[in-house]
Amino acid sequence: MESGSAIRKMWDYGRKLKSLHGDDRVADMTLGNPVALPPAALLRALEEVVHHPPDGLHRYTAHAGRRDVRERIARHLDERGLLPGAGAEQVLVTAGASAASNIMLRAVLDPGDEVIILAPYFPDYPAHVLNHGGLPIVVSTRADFLPDVERIEEAIGPRTRVVIINHPNNPSGRQYPEDILGELAGLLRQKSKVNGKRIYLLSDEPYRELRFTEEPFVSPARLYEHGIMAYSFSKSHSIPGERIGYLAVNPEGGETQELVAAMALSSRILGFPNAPSLWQEVISRCLDAVVEMAPLQRDILRLYGALREKGYEVVKPDGTFYLFPRVPTDDVQSFIQGLLENFLLVVPGESFGLADHFRLALCVDEKTVDLAIDRLPPAGR
Ligand SMILES: Cc1ncc(COP(=O)(O)O)c(C=O)c1O
Repeated sequence: MESGSAIRKMWDYGRKLKSLHGDDRVADMTLGNPVALPPAALLRALEEVVHHPPDGLHRYTAHAGRRDVRERIARHLDERGLLPGAGAEQVLVTAGASAASNIMLRAVLDPGDEVIILAPYFPDYPAHVLNHGGLPIVVSTRADFLPDVERIEEAIGPRTRVVIINHPNNPSGRQYPEDILGELAGLLRQKSKVNGKRIYLLSDEPYRELRFTEEPFVSPARLYEHGIMAYSFSKSHSIPGERIGYLAVNPEGGETQELVAAMALSSRILGFPNAPSLWQEVISRCLDAVVEMAPLQRDILRLYGALREKGYEVVKPDGTFYLFPRVPTDDVQSFIQGLLENFLLVVPGESFGLADHFRLALCVDEKTVDLAIDRLPPAGR
């Protein structure tokens, strides 16, 4: 509990500060809990489904989700080139991306198997891996936060079963280029042969629609036959409280139906089979919708510019709603404490496996961004 709850602890502290001093005096940049309204297409679809429900809407669905919903998701992935050739049998609808990762890991891990995660990482990964008897192996990225394939190669051993990739990345905001992902796919292919056992690549991509770069997004799940995509509508459709997402398996992998069947069984064992039926129906009607990106892009670039002006070392994000600057002093704790005293709440980088950084989440309104800029001290080492 101590190690896992840093973000929530900071958020709780922020709520206390707000109740004591007023909402407008506290800049709470802790949680990645979007404030944007869901896209109009989603609200319309929700209204249609509520007023004209399809037959049996509120009944249990198959563990993997409704066949027609899986078909629509597969078509979407195929038509957009995200996972060409995907069919309904390669898709499993889940209660969000966290459920998706747990279901996938439960299906493929044996106790003692190793799972490589890249730092900085989404703070829940180590817990997800440990939850299913796996051993998290943390590998650092390069200074620009892109994957270092050589370091990943050094970390792969006979017990490596999964590599988790998350891009655009929480917390760095970096999107990974296709050539690096291709190199990684080649490495996993080669090492799977050496191990005599598949190494799976889990591509956790809830931010793939939240991008500011012109570079196209490439799913590593497309580049590697044993790639499995975990997607969530929490961010692209701004509905994190509703719990809906999916897993999609590369159709070239062989035995994909067995893998999906194993994951469907895992969803049942873990206690979250059959993603919410209402939301399966709603999202299947607005798969292409995305929240309005202009305000987010404006705010994130403004805060990025302000950080640079104040002398912070910070990598420009390609997407997401996060910034991940370096702490501008050797005394990390005093720096974070100083921000708290300034009523600016951030998440210490330790939660992401990189203690000398901190994360700012832009799930706030424009005025809070102004407040944060005002409260950030100049960086002077
Ligand atoms: C990288 C990453 N993966 C997964 C999740 C969890 O998403 P969901 O709400 O779909 O469980 C998040 C949420 O912040 C995330 O940042």
